[in-house]
Amino acid sequence: MMRCVGVFGFVVAGILATWMPAPGQETGSSCVACHEMLSGRLGDPAKRFAEDVHAEAGFGCPACHGGDPTIQGPAAMDEAKGYIGRPEAAQIPGICGRCHSDAGFMRQYNPALRVDQVQEYLTSVHGQRLLGAGDTAVANCASCHGPHGILPATDPRSPVYALNVADTCAGCHSDTARMAPYGIPTDQAEKYRRSIHWETMSEGGDMSAPTCNDCHGNHGAAPPGISWVGHVCGQCHVVMAEYFEASRHSAAFEMMGVPGCARCHQNHEIRPASDGMLGMGEEAVCVTCHRPDDVGGQGAIAMRATIDTLSGTIDSARVVLEHAEDSGVEVSSALATLNDARSSLIKARTAVHAFDPEKVAADAEPGMKIAGEALVRGRQALGELRFRRIGLAVAVLIIGALIVGLVLKIKEVEPSVGATDGRDT
Ligand code: HEC
Ligand code: HEC
Ligand code: HEC
Ligand code: HEC
Ligand code: HEC
Ligand code: HEC
Ligand code: HEC
Ligand code: HEC
Ligand code: HEC
Repeated sequence: MMRCVGVFGFVVAGILATWMPAPGQETGSSCVACHEMLSGRLGDPAKRFAEDVHAEAGFGCPACHGGDPTIQGPAAMDEAKGYIGRPEAAQIPGICGRCHSDAGFMRQYNPALRVDQVQEYLTSVHGQRLLGAGDTAVANCASCHGPHGILPATDPRSPVYALNVADTCAGCHSDTARMAPYGIPTDQAEKYRRSIHWETMSEGGDMSAPTCNDCHGNHGAAPPGISWVGHVCGQCHVVMAEYFEASRHSAAFEMMGVPGCARCHQNHEIRPASDGMLGMGEEAVCVTCHRPDDVGGQGAIAMRATIDTLSGTIDSARVVLEHAEDSGVEVSSALATLNDARSSLIKARTAVHAFDPEKVAADAEPGMKIAGEALVRGRQALGELRFRRIGLAVAVLIIGALIVGLVLKIKEVEPSVGATDGRDT
């Protein structure tokens, strides 16, 4: 009886294995047994597959290639059993999508996984060129994830793990020969590696910074159109994006075909911002469109002046207070208020994105008040210090005079003492 169930189970497992996979089917697969003994391009897939997330979930080679793993010998690769051999690039999204686009099926294994990869891929430049124009130089699912040895995106060894994505995309996008027919730049990864975003992620270990897919979409890879660059950056830089959206620049840039944030900050080589970017100076980004005498130029100059005044006042107050503190005057509470002034400065720098000098002035105002008061306190402290120093000098003089008086007094007494001693010996 037990044996019957066993055989029956084996047969059912065999039928399931031809298409829809069942957990655990892989044990005893003829595909693996035979391919493991082969070498090179025929053997590697079987060897790499051992650590594949699909093998771990219990799927076998037929999940993507078809065929019947219960048949020993080459007959396992029978087209009548659905065997398709090595899939063409254009077939791959359909193969992966058979499971990955089926929410009901995927939920049984990993309810947290999204099921829109193929749908998104079809909207990407990659998907449209592959399926629309038969262009096989673009990325398909296996180009980014690998065909075998596929790992979860959270595994640091995965080619789509955040720190590895730039290399994975660069494999094609920095390959000048591959990209030549398209006439697009091949410097994205090189520039990205010089950005504050990559620095934050790779050196700071802060995975909240973006890599290629955070801005281009995991699967919908396309250059963000002019109108949604702000939304791309705004996922993370929320306040700047809100100000920019409501500013005059928003509509004006769109009309001019200028890609929002990227116009002033670049897209791939984004560097830390600085006050020098603002105004009519040499490094300023405003000079490319404004002259010092137009309304925008005047606004730029005014905003820069507000920020310079605030940051200058904060710096002076800090220098004076620290000097007083080093000399022993109690100014710690005044020094602490400078943190609030600095928050105000940060708000004012952010408010630049409203491109309205009054908004910047309003956000700088509380900081100006605090820094101004701190500076006054610092000068007072230095005044106290000067007063104390004068007091000290006077005290030293008095003590000096006393000592001199004392010495003279002693000298006056000394000779008579010496004479007395001499006579005694
Ligand atoms: C008895 C050994 C053996 C078994 C069993 C076997 N294969 Fe193969 N397989 C080969 C050999 C040899 C080749 C290369 C010659 C050829 O293409 O027929 C090959 C080729 C392939 C290729 C590449 C085809 C191409 O066009 O490049 C795939 C994919 C493949 N096998 C998958 C499978 C799957 C899936 C199974 C199980 C259902 C399986 N094999 C079972 C020996 C085997
Ligand atoms: C998750 C889907 C998937 C599974 C499971 C899978 N393969 Fe593949 N396999 C692919 C894809 C996709 C390609 C085509 C890769 C390409 O064109 O670069 C491929 C290619 C191959 C090739 C041809 C390699 C070459 O370079 O010509 C062989 C052989 C092969 N697979 C064997 C296997 C064997 C054996 C197993 C089971 C141990 C297996 N595959 C499991 C997706 C899969
Ligand atoms: C251009 C490269 C690229 C292509 C092409 C690609 N992927 Fe991805 N895929 C990624 C990246 C990057 C991630 C990691 C996303 C993350 O970190 O959240 C990912 C994540 C995934 C995940 C994990 C769940 C998720 O959505 O985050 C699955 C499943 C997946 N891809 C399947 C596919 C399938 C199926 C295809 C083909 C239709 C495909 N991928 C094509 C780059 C790619
Ligand atoms: C037979 C169904 C099936 C096929 C075909 C299939 N997958 Fe999967 N895949 C799954 C299941 C189920 C999981 C979830 C496994 C788990 O989390 O335990 C998964 C997991 C993944 C993951 C890991 C997701 C993560 O981040 O946790 C990636 C990446 C992936 N598949 C990519 C692919 C690609 C690329 C293809 C096509 C070459 C493909 N899959 C074909 C069923 C399939
Ligand atoms: C297998 C090679 C390959 C890989 C890997 C690859 N791409 Fe592509 N990608 C291409 C090709 C080829 C094009 C087509 C260029 C075109 O049509 O302009 C393209 C187009 C694009 C475009 C549209 C460019 C334009 O202006 O038309 C973007 C954006 C893009 N890829 C981003 C990415 C990102 C992000 C990754 C990594 C997550 C990636 N690609 C991985 C080959 C690849
Ligand atoms: C911080 C967001 C961001 C990151 C990170 C990012 N990109 Fe871009 N990328 C953009 C924007 C914005 C554009 C469009 C700029 C425009 O329209 O002028 C773009 C354009 C592109 C293009 C179109 C051709 C070109 O150079 O203009 C490709 C290809 C591309 N990126 C690939 C990549 C790759 C590969 C990576 C990772 C190495 C990457 N991007 C990282 C925002 C980003
Ligand atoms: C017209 C040019 C311009 C545009 C468009 C622009 N910025 Fe800025 N951005 C600046 C200038 C100038 C500064 C430096 C302000 C300062 O430090 O005085 C700056 C600073 C920043 C900073 C650093 C702020 C800080 O606290 O030091 C971030 C982050 C930023 N911008 C993000 C964005 C984002 C996101 C967008 C799009 C929604 C955007 N910017 C659009 C000019 C621009
Ligand atoms: C996935 C989140 C994310 C996206 C998307 C993103 N950034 Fe960033 N950005 C960060 C993080 C994290 C930092 C580093 C910490 C910081 O300074 O805020 C940063 C830093 C910056 C800085 C330097 C800020 C400084 O202190 O000087 C600028 C400028 C900037 N990003 C602009 C952009 C622009 C423009 C875009 C869109 C093209 C963009 N970012 C997209 C997360 C993001
Ligand atoms: C790509 C060109 C471009 C750049 C770069 C640019 N601007 Fe403008 N700016 C414009 C245009 C066009 C207008 C007019 C919008 C309107 O009137 O609707 C404008 C308007 C303004 C205004 C509002 C004037 C008014 O009528 O109220 C201010 C303020 C301003 N810009 C400041 C700046 C500052 C500061 C910078 C640098 C950080 C800058 N702009 C960079 C194109 C630009």
